[in-house]
Amino acid sequence: MLLSMLFFRIMKKIAVLSGAGISAESGIATFRGSGGLWDSYPVEQVATPEGFRANPSLVLEFYNKRRKELACAEPNEAHKLVAELEKDFDVVVITQNVDDLHERAGSTNIIHLHGELMKVCSSVQPQNCMYVCKLPSYDSNIAIGDLAGDGSQLRPFIVWFGEAVPLIEDAISALRDIDVFIIIGTSLNVYPAAGLVNYIPHGTPVYLIDPNDVPVHNLSNLQVLKMGASEGMQKLSNELLKME
Ligand code: OAD
Repeated sequence: MLLSMLFFRIMKKIAVLSGAGISAESGIATFRGSGGLWDSYPVEQVATPEGFRANPSLVLEFYNKRRKELACAEPNEAHKLVAELEKDFDVVVITQNVDDLHERAGSTNIIHLHGELMKVCSSVQPQNCMYVCKLPSYDSNIAIGDLAGDGSQLRPFIVWFGEAVPLIEDAISALRDIDVFIIIGTSLNVYPAAGLVNYIPHGTPVYLIDPNDVPVHNLSNLQVLKMGASEGMQKLSNELLKME
């Protein structure tokens, strides 16, 4: 009898935590800093449940506009290089971004911590998946009077400030057995996403790509690539292939 041996190639696992900075090179504004979205739109008015109760039209209009911007945006080199990592690694993308540029670049395992711009939900039970729907197109406008399946006003499927982040547990679990952690384009100002760095297994190589200083502490194996997302991912992809 022929004795055959099966060789399994165990892929190294990479987690990517992305923020608005990765989509900046696709023309989507970041939130903080000069020219950031929160300069033009007070965050408490457009990204809190209280803001939605006070002026739902303003909030719906804000996200209708974001969707139209997304229609004109394309994934950039950084999104594409993150997606390409899947050829050689087991990759999970944990993103704070509500755009769909990681998906459009080809990433297949994405945790959208803060929701998704192309989805809408019930305003009474926003996390009830029975009432979460994908919008048919980028120019689908949500208006007052558009109803979710439970009869409540439709709202954007976005996790607003003051709301729970249901996918944070999935994100924490995904970090348990990683070999590499990559942080791209986030100011790490918003929790619980920013707290994910505390769940990185001790000693794991961490790469941070951002043209500005980002406060990260207590990471024993951190390398900072102080540059834009595409340039940083280009450099890093070459490095990672050597580790494979
Ligand atoms: P921020 O706007 O807070 O931070 C964007 C980061 O991207 C900053 O650190 C910039 O230096 C960096 N950046 C700018 N251009 C870049 C480029 N070309 N390449 C790489 N990095 C670049 O955005 P987030 O940290 O993503 O939540 O914000 C987190 C959350 O706060 C968002 O998900 C949003 C916001 O309020 C909600 O709306 C619920």
